[in-house]
Amino acid sequence: MGTDPTTQTLAQLGDNTPEQVAPRFAEIRARFDFEISSDSNTGNWPAFIARWTGRKSGVLTEIGDNWLKPAPPRLKKVVGQEFQKLKAHVESALEAKRKEIESAAEQAAAARDRIDLSLPGIERAIGTRHIIRQTYEELVRIFVSIGFSVVEGPEIETPYYNFEALNIPEHHPARDNMDTFYIEGAREPHLLRTHTSPMQIRTMEKQPPPVRIIVPGKVYRRDNPDATHGYMFHQIEGLAVDTDITFCDFKGTVEYFVREFFGPKAKTRLRPSYFPFTEPSAEVDATCHVCGGSGCRICKFSGWIELSGAGMVNPAVYGFVKNGYDAAKHSGFAFGMGIDRLAMMKYGVTELPLLFQNDVRFLRQFP
Ligand code: PHE
Repeated sequence: MGTDPTTQTLAQLGDNTPEQVAPRFAEIRARFDFEISSDSNTGNWPAFIARWTGRKSGVLTEIGDNWLKPAPPRLKKVVGQEFQKLKAHVESALEAKRKEIESAAEQAAAARDRIDLSLPGIERAIGTRHIIRQTYEELVRIFVSIGFSVVEGPEIETPYYNFEALNIPEHHPARDNMDTFYIEGAREPHLLRTHTSPMQIRTMEKQPPPVRIIVPGKVYRRDNPDATHGYMFHQIEGLAVDTDITFCDFKGTVEYFVREFFGPKAKTRLRPSYFPFTEPSAEVDATCHVCGGSGCRICKFSGWIELSGAGMVNPAVYGFVKNGYDAAKHSGFAFGMGIDRLAMMKYGVTELPLLFQNDVRFLRQFP
């Protein structure tokens, strides 16, 4: 430490009287107080700590070695006392200073990270429900409001539920209309359901009459994809069976649905049709939502759009189901509508593929 007054003082202690010891320690203490109050010293904190408390050559160690250890007996006691006082003072002052430095650093960091509440927030894009989903939810809302409940069923079906139990035996021409994906390698024959009608059978097998259900879901057909056809689309099946259900109940239900879905001006028309599992069968048309019935490209200038296949449940179907369904006592109606087609009509979309490409520029238009 060379010419440092601290060390000069240290060397001379042995010649002092006991009364002169305390002032010597006071000098060291003043020196310490002076140094610790100056940022230029404490700015290099590790070096400052080492200078005062370092084991090898810190000032406290030097005092121990040069003043305490060699002190003659007459000075031993007072040097020991003064040394302990100095040590305690240095240690507590260093601890206080260390805390001060740390909290200053913390405050500086907090100031750096402070959140400015006046800044505008980060806007995150919020997704929208797909229009098929929106349409599905609307359909469910309407039918639930008149007493139907929602059930869902498997997309992989057996020929029995998809065809046989619906009164479509093998080689029946109705199978040709529904080009079917068969699943290869299955132990039992399986297929991708071509319509939601299998759930008519599955539901009645589980639940004795009365029954009032809708079944939304995906169906698959080997169609050649074009503007209005894909190999997968969505249907919603309806089935109501009870005593005394008539065709009028069906007509009233479908008219109510069409007005709720398309608005009070929409009209409904029924045309005779054929399905093996309904008798009589009908095709339901609604006035074209795009042109209001005057004729446009969407409705192929007819003013009408085909909505649904439907009819009164064929007594032959009850024969497959049993479970308390008795054609002499029970009657009911069933219908199957394309959800995608309803969505296209309601939202004025002319290309079916747009519904499945998930291009956000398209999807964003239907918040
Ligand atoms: N399942 C028929 C189809 O997909 C529609 C339908 C359902 C017809 C219920 C009558 C009764 O074409």
